[in-house]
Amino acid sequence: MNLTIIGTGYVGLISGVCFAEFGYQTVCVDKDQNRIDELNQSKCPFYEPGIEDLLNKHLNKTKLLSFSNSVAQSVENADIIFITVGTPSKRIEGEADLSFVWDVAKEISENIKKYCLIVTKSTVPVGTTKQVKKIILENINENSFDVVSNPEFLREGSAVNDFMRPDRVVIGCENQNSENIMRELYRPLNLNETPIISTSIESSEIIKYASNSFLATKISFINQVSDLCEKVGANIQDVAKGMGIDKRIGSKFLHAGPGYGGSCFPKDVKAFINTANNHNVDLSILSAVDKFNDGRVDKIADKIMSKAKLRTGETASILGLSFKPNTDDIRDSTSIKIAKILNQKGIKVKSYDPEAMSNAKKENPFLVLCDDAYIACEESKVIIIGTEWNEFRALDLKKIINNKNNLCIFDLRNIYNPKELKQLGFDYFGTGT
Ligand SMILES: NC(=O)c1ccc[n+]([C@@H]2O[C@H](COP(=O)([O-])OP(=O)(O)OC[C@H]3O[C@@H](n4cnc5c(N)ncnc54)[C@H](O)[C@@H]3O)[C@@H](O)[C@H]2O)c1
Repeated sequence: MNLTIIGTGYVGLISGVCFAEFGYQTVCVDKDQNRIDELNQSKCPFYEPGIEDLLNKHLNKTKLLSFSNSVAQSVENADIIFITVGTPSKRIEGEADLSFVWDVAKEISENIKKYCLIVTKSTVPVGTTKQVKKIILENINENSFDVVSNPEFLREGSAVNDFMRPDRVVIGCENQNSENIMRELYRPLNLNETPIISTSIESSEIIKYASNSFLATKISFINQVSDLCEKVGANIQDVAKGMGIDKRIGSKFLHAGPGYGGSCFPKDVKAFINTANNHNVDLSILSAVDKFNDGRVDKIADKIMSKAKLRTGETASILGLSFKPNTDDIRDSTSIKIAKILNQKGIKVKSYDPEAMSNAKKENPFLVLCDDAYIACEESKVIIIGTEWNEFRALDLKKIINNKNNLCIFDLRNIYNPKELKQLGFDYFGTGT
């Protein structure tokens, strides 16, 4: 099977290298020439554990993988074309911006030469895949292609493993032939007995938004309960453990913290609310989730300012800038949002992150970036654990406190033992404790 993947970001590149690992001839396309040049030299444009070995293997050894900047040349021989371009939020009302998807659909329609499947793997609102079909029908006869929805559920930081061992694969097809081709494509996953969920195109598109929105709801829920815990002297970690052990609830996504960020949850929650509004359906539960999450970083910054009695000109240190560990992605990162608020209040912000500093610096020149966590914490009045990278769990905290008085630590991710830190002399503030 010949595959073409259009959009070589996190989803497109991971899908590309993993499909090559399955044994398929795969072309990954991007309009960003720098990105294609880097990839052709086996350089991954972002940090993701495990990807460089696969990239190198299939680009240079098996030669199953190639990169191109030309949609026209790359779709001619394709049996399946995946659309994996970004679908960011528009500024107004959080609607998904589908302009990249429409551009790609038009380009595909002008260049395909034989029957193929055109698959939306980007996260797209219900109705988008059928709209892609309409665009393609402007140039191509309906017997020459089929459209399919195949949303992606990988998580940055464990993307390769998630792609190779997913909990499920969702395929939304219009007919048996396209379902058969998609089942054949994912046949290598039969080894792990991965469930393939076959639905209508509309259900498949909704499954992706409903899944992300549900997880975001769990996060906002536990964060609201954690605020209550702080007021009444309860401990959110004990509460979450007591809840999560119940199989009906489950322990995942019950970690109190600064709120959800990243390239998916914030925009997907907003886009799902927008879809519901467009259809006059009450999804107010999600509006509450979104509003609470949007306001959380301001409340955390206020808490830091007041508990630490921070004054203009003083220094705060943020450890961790990526939106979660094991990625250099800073899109909608809560650490960066908190850093910006503190900076606006006249606080000098020093920081260290194992992978995300060069991305962070491009957009946030005010950040003072340091070579390691210890240097980032020097001369600071406040230390904020923004992202729970493993290396922060093992810090020598004695070295950091170094006989200072009243050094505050805001452990937004609850990675430390409060008793131990208090014994060392820190003023410790966890989340929901
Ligand atoms: N990042 C994730 O963890 C994740 C997980 C699941 C689903 N998704 C969804 O997958 C989609 C892609 O996300 P991403 O994070 O990979 O995006 P991204 O922004 O990292 O990458 C998108 C790529 O598409 C390219 N592109 C845009 N228009 C193009 C065109 N006309 N021709 C060729 N290339 C073009 C861009 O240059 C960019 O490199 C989104 O809908 C997202 O919601 C993302």
